[in-house]
Formats: sequence, structure tokens, C-alpha cells
Amino acid sequence: MGIRTGQAGAQLIDVPQPTEISDDQVLLKTLYTGICGTDRGIISGQLKFARPPAGSDFLIMGHEGLAEVQDVGKSVKTIRRGDIVVPMVRRPGGCLQCRIGRQDNCEDGDFVEAGIRGKDGFMREYFLDEEKYSVKVYDRSLGRLAVLTEPMKNVVKSFDAYRTVTRRSIAQCGDGSFDCRRATIAGGGPIGILFAMIFRSYGFDVQLFDRNDHLGKLSAVSEKLGIDFKVSEGTGLPPNFIEGLDVFVDTTGSPSVIGRGLEGLGHNGCMVLFGTSSGGGYQLTGDLITSLVEKNATIIGTVDGSKAHYIEALNYLSSWKGMFPGVLEDIITQEDDPENSISALNTKVTGEIKRVIKWADQ
Ligand code: BGC
Ligand code: ZN
Repeated sequence: MGIRTGQAGAQLIDVPQPTEISDDQVLLKTLYTGICGTDRGIISGQLKFARPPAGSDFLIMGHEGLAEVQDVGKSVKTIRRGDIVVPMVRRPGGCLQCRIGRQDNCEDGDFVEAGIRGKDGFMREYFLDEEKYSVKVYDRSLGRLAVLTEPMKNVVKSFDAYRTVTRRSIAQCGDGSFDCRRATIAGGGPIGILFAMIFRSYGFDVQLFDRNDHLGKLSAVSEKLGIDFKVSEGTGLPPNFIEGLDVFVDTTGSPSVIGRGLEGLGHNGCMVLFGTSSGGGYQLTGDLITSLVEKNATIIGTVDGSKAHYIEALNYLSSWKGMFPGVLEDIITQEDDPENSISALNTKVTGEIKRVIKWADQ
């Protein structure tokens, strides 16, 4: 079984189980797939860049995966049968970045993404992949939490970008830590929570806001993380959250939220844009431009992540089990059977943070 989508909408289909495996391939049995805004954008028809593989009239969904290795080809060296792996989303084209394994920074758009554009995804029981795109999960005690590796690798890359660009001024505090700095995160979805966790783990004072509390779940998670959570009212941002910002991370894609964030940046402040937008606008003023210049502000757009970011993502997830007990578990609010995946893709239930599909027992 697999999930297919052509234009808008999705349906369950039979997908043949692969029978032949070539020398450099691995045969993977899907254990879990996660669902995010990208999937919902694809099946609602809103995500314009979604497309099936060349020559196919449908796309098998799923880019957040966790799988068990069933079999390996003759020349596969680093992965064995029984290993648990996270399959990478983006596969390279021919540009310079792609040729050095940095397809996340592709220069010409000639890449494909499993379950998103030009390549079938992981919402099916079995699939073939290449060794080099299968990231091994060494900490098996992560269990289903390892399905968070794929979204987390985006956060690791963004944090890496933040650290890189803020070398233009010193962000560390007197004692070398970041505990005199404040990070404000817009949007309390899975990505927003993972951003809150990474900044918190480096000592930042973290503020998180969302339009709602997801049935009290964001307050509860924030309490465990020792961060400040507020519900934003209407389009207004929590007033005390938007002054003198060191770093503002947007996961909402909302022009008005981003505009207010830019207005609130402090000296040497940094805006990290992660959320893609479904429209709207914001009036950029001359005063704001002057203030961004005078403050040495930095704006970063960031997407996807490299294989190293997947590996680091797994390291963070493992260490956070001890550092922030129970929080990763809190992110996965719902688990469904594959038979329910169409409704899971179509509708977000109240209080949902991350919804996953369980394909097989681990
Ligand atoms: C994925 C990224 C991908 C992006 C495309 C995200 O959901 O995590 O790997 O590049 O979608 O917009
Ligand atoms: Zn995703």
C-alpha cells in the first residue's frame, strides 16, 4: 500500500513490493512516517513546486521517514540488515553544491525531494534506496522519536547558519555562554518547539508564541523547557516579546509576524526565516530599513539540511532525552494506522502537534 497524490487530493493505492535489489541499494521497511505542513500543502494543491517523478502521473507521499534495513546489495558496506535508518529527503542534481553533498544549498534547482518533488516518498511499506542517503540511527532507544530526525535536521542547519552569520559580531556573553541572549520563536508547531529546544540547550532565554496553546500542550512543554510561552492575540504579537531581540525565528511564514519581528530586532539582531508563506504582505518602510542598517541586522533564509545535519540531529535527539525529559515524547501527539493516512494528511485535529503513521513494529 502507498499514498498517492497527483494534483490536489490523495488516495490509497497498491504499490508493488520491490523484488530486485542492485549492488549499491538497500531494501527498507518503513516503520514510521511523519506528517507536516509541507505534506498538507502538497495534497491541498497549495505547494506549487510539488510534482511527481518524471514520467509518472502521481507522487507517493512522505518525506519524514524511519525505516528498518531488510536487505543490502553486494557493495553496501556501512549498513547491515536489521539497522534502523532515516532516509534523506533531497537528492542532488549536477551543480557544484550538489556535487559536494550540499544539495540543501543547490544553486540551480536541479534536485529532487522524496515525497515532495520529482521522487516518490516513504509512505509505503517497502522501498529501495541508496546506502549514502540512509542515515543510520545508532541510538535504538530513541524508538519512534527518531522520526523527528528529518524535521530536526532543518533546525540544525538553521542554527548552524545563525552561528555562522553572527560571527560578524560577538554573540557569546562574558562567560562564553549564550545566557545573556534571547531567542524569540514564532509558531509552536514541531519545528518551533525543536527551535526552542536547540536555543534553550545553548543557554538562551527563549520566548515562544503561537495563535493557540494546542489544548494546553504548548504551556506544558514550555514549563518543562523553562521557557516563556504566550498566545498571540489576533495578528498582534505578545508585546513584551518584540523589543530588542537578539534572534527571531519565524516558522509561520506570516508577513505581518515577520515584519513585527524585524521591527523588534535589537543591535546585531538576527532574523531566521524558516516558514514558507501562503501569501499576504507587509509594508516595508524607510524607517525600518534605516533601523536594520544602523543595527547591523542579519536576515537568513534557510531550507533543508545536509547529511551532517541529519547526523547531528540524531545526536541532539539522543542527548535531549536526558536534558529535557519527556519533551520529545510530547511533540508526537498522535499515531495512526496507514489506513487512516488520507484523513491524517487532510485534517489537523485540535491539539495536534506532530502526527505520525506507524507502518510496522520496530
Ligand atoms: C523538508 C525539507 C524540504 C522542504 C521543501 C520540508 O518539509 O523538511 O527537507 O527541503 O520541505 O520546502
Ligand atoms: Zn516535513
